[in-house]
Amino acid sequence: MAAKTKKKARAKKSASREPLAVALLKKDHREVEGLFKKFEKAGSGSEKLNLFKQIALALKVHTKIEEEIFYSEERGEVEDDMLDEAQVEHDGAKHLIAEIEAMKPGQDLYDAKVKVLSEYIKHHVKEEEQPGGIFAQAKKGDEDLNEMGERLKARKQQLMAQMA
Ligand SMILES: [Fe+2]
Ligand SMILES: [Fe+2]
Repeated sequence: MAAKTKKKARAKKSASREPLAVALLKKDHREVEGLFKKFEKAGSGSEKLNLFKQIALALKVHTKIEEEIFYSEERGEVEDDMLDEAQVEHDGAKHLIAEIEAMKPGQDLYDAKVKVLSEYIKHHVKEEEQPGGIFAQAKKGDEDLNEMGERLKARKQQLMAQMA
């Protein structure tokens, strides 16, 4: 328990040194990971449905603010191939989300599709967060990531209100 608390405190400390845009996007990643974990433990269909709604909303808003603001403004700072692949991965995730939204918990492949979505997102998040990845390259660039963070935050609030 003590070790866990210590680890948490360290993670928090390193997150606070990040420029705001990166800190916010990473926070979104951790939130979605938590929701996927809860989904795995969910017992009833209604619990799963409720959690999936939260996952879908979080992912739709997150991918939109990344595409509209972060990816688009990081063109030229981050390698084109990486941004292109990230966009294709977003599109793949959205497609899978739509498939799951058209289903009901308990149906064949429902749980499998949610699991595959979580693995897909895990892979994508790694590409963004790993050393030399999208966030690392963005931090080396000239964009003001603190100012961008304010805009990401405002757009997220707007989209959450619209899409919820
Ligand atoms: Fe992304
Ligand atoms: Fe992301």
